[in-house]
Amino acid sequence: MNAIVINGSPRVKSNTMRLTRAFLDGAGFDAEIIDAAKLDIKPCLGCFGCWKNTPGKCVINDDMSGILNQIIGADVIIWSFPPYYFSVPSGLKALIDRQLPLNLPFMSEESVFGAHAQRYDLPRKRVAAISTCGFWTAAGNYDGVAAMFDRMYGKDNWSKIFCGQGELFRVPELSARTDLYLKAVRRTGAEFAKGGITQKTQAGLAEPLYERKVFEQMADASWGAAKDGGPPDGAFDFTTQMAAPYRPDGKERVIEFVYTDIYKRYQIVCRAADHDVIRADFLPCTTRIETPFTVRQAIARGEISGFKTLLQKKYRVTGDFSVMKRWNKLFGAPPRR
Ligand SMILES: Cc1cc2nc3c(=O)[nH]c(=O)nc-3n(C[C@H](O)[C@H](O)[C@H](O)COP(=O)(O)O)c2cc1C
Repeated sequence: MNAIVINGSPRVKSNTMRLTRAFLDGAGFDAEIIDAAKLDIKPCLGCFGCWKNTPGKCVINDDMSGILNQIIGADVIIWSFPPYYFSVPSGLKALIDRQLPLNLPFMSEESVFGAHAQRYDLPRKRVAAISTCGFWTAAGNYDGVAAMFDRMYGKDNWSKIFCGQGELFRVPELSARTDLYLKAVRRTGAEFAKGGITQKTQAGLAEPLYERKVFEQMADASWGAAKDGGPPDGAFDFTTQMAAPYRPDGKERVIEFVYTDIYKRYQIVCRAADHDVIRADFLPCTTRIETPFTVRQAIARGEISGFKTLLQKKYRVTGDFSVMKRWNKLFGAPPRR
C-alpha cells in the first residue's frame, strides 16, 4: 500500500499531525509525508499551459512536479491540515490548485455541476482528510472544505476525521482526555485500512472533547492575556484551566489554592450547578491547599503523583480532605462514553 500524507499545517508541531500519526499507526501505513508549507510550491498562474501547450506538465519549475508524481503513484492519500478561515492554509491551497495538470481540459458529463475529465486512467485512490480546528466543534467549520473534497473525489468517496478543540492536543495537563481521542483515531486508522470507517466510530469522533463551556473557559485562559484587559496572570489562568472541567456533584465548596512560591491565592468556588475562580473578595474556604506553584503544575501535567507528593509533604491540605479523594471525579477528564 503506497500511502502519502499531504500536510498543510505550517506549524513545526502540528496538532493535526498528532492525529494523523495516530491514524497511520492504527492503519499500519508507512506513509511518505509531503510538507506543503516547507516545499517550493508557487501559486498557479492560471495560464492553462498544462492543458494547451505542454499537456500534463506545468510551466512552473518547482517541487510540484515531484508531488504530482507522488499523487499519481499513491494508493492512499491522507490530507492533514488545520482549517484557516473555513478553508485550507494557503500553502496547501497552492498545492491543490497546482493539481490542474492531472485533469484534461475537456468537460466530463458525469458531474451534475460540471467537471473536467481525468488525464490518467488510474485505479481509484483511497482518500482521508484529517483536521483539527480551533472552535469547540467541527460542525459548521468544514462546510467549504467538505464541499471541495466532495468535488475532488466524489461525494462519499473520501473519509474524514474533523475534530474540534484542536489546541487541547498540545496541553500536557489534558493528555488523559486527548489520549483517549488519539486512541479512537488509531482504531479509526485500523478500520480505514480494513475497508472503511464505521458510522459508530465516526459518531464517536464527532463528540467534543469537552463540553463547549468548559472548552471555551480553558481556551480563553490559554493566551497569557486577561480577557478584561488587565495584566496577565498565568497562575490565575492555570487555576481557571484546572477548574474548567468541574463536574458538580450537588455539594457547595470553596477550594483555596495558595501558591507558596509565587505568593498568589485563588479560590475555586463550587456551587451546586457551576463554578467560578476568584482572586479577590475571598470567601471562607472549605479546603485549603498550600503548594508551590511548580509542584501543582507538575501534578497537573501528570509528571508527579499528587498522592505521593502529599505523603512527601511537598504540599499541605487543610479542611475538608474528601475533595482530594474525589479530585479526578470532580475535575478530571470526562468519563469515557
Ligand atoms: C490563520 C488561522 C485561521 C484559522 N481559522 C480557523 C477556522 O476557520 N476555524 C477553526 O475552527 N479554527 C481556525 N483556526 C484554528 C486552527 O485551525 C487550529 O488551531 C488547529 O488546531 C491548528 O492545527 P495545526 O496545529 O495542525 O496547524 C485558525 C488558525 C489560524 C492560525
